[in-house]
Amino acid sequence: MDKRTKETVKIFDDAAERYQDKYMDVSSYSEHLSLFCEALSSDEASILDVACGPGNVAKYIVGRLPSAIITSTDLSSKMLELTKVNVPSATTLLLDAKAIKSIDKKYDGILASFIFPYLSKVEVVDFIQDSASILNDEGVLYISTMQGSDSDSGYVGPSDGVQMYINYHEVNYVEQALNEFGFEIVTSVIQPYDYGVDNNGTDIIILAKLKN
Ligand SMILES: C[S@@+](CC[C@H](N)C(=O)[O-])C[C@H]1O[C@@H](n2cnc3c(N)ncnc32)[C@H](O)[C@@H]1O
Repeated sequence: MDKRTKETVKIFDDAAERYQDKYMDVSSYSEHLSLFCEALSSDEASILDVACGPGNVAKYIVGRLPSAIITSTDLSSKMLELTKVNVPSATTLLLDAKAIKSIDKKYDGILASFIFPYLSKVEVVDFIQDSASILNDEGVLYISTMQGSDSDSGYVGPSDGVQMYINYHEVNYVEQALNEFGFEIVTSVIQPYDYGVDNNGTDIIILAKLKN
């Protein structure tokens, strides 16, 4: 694991319970998560939840699709422990988002909810390519991330007394990579989000489907 990833994961590990308290409710994203559920080929779809955090997104999905087969991955063991409690039906896996290709299995859907802030522009493009290789035909990819100029990426904080490196991403190169690696964009929206008193932002939320 590289130094920056190690640093990021330690911050999430230490703040896992606080993150759960703040972000367990995913209603700001429910419209798009519902579209993800509807776009899946079956109610028993296999879904990979990358960087699952406390299982907030997976819990919403299981509420909509109780028969979905969910594999939740993260590099924070604390987050995986919370996921086990919040989504008992999910299988949990300690895995780097940069290594999803190492899973010897294909999925009907992939959730990439707020992992891109911890991946560089090059890593985001690689992630989209890796997702295409582990999705079944017509598999669905859900992406949410913080919008901004790539050049503004850097350390932010202090939040809880620590600085964390955040990568902002631009919608144009995310969409370009999706097109390049065989996805059709189903929906792509920019949505304002209040991250805190001094940190109003905008999110990019994209739903994409792998073409046959
Ligand atoms: C902002 S939280 C997102 C959690 C959840 N998916 C959500 O949308 O609320 C980011 C998560 O990414 C995890 N993470 C950061 N870098 C990672 C990496 N390289 N591989 C796997 N997980 C990572 C952190 O441990 C944390 O749980």
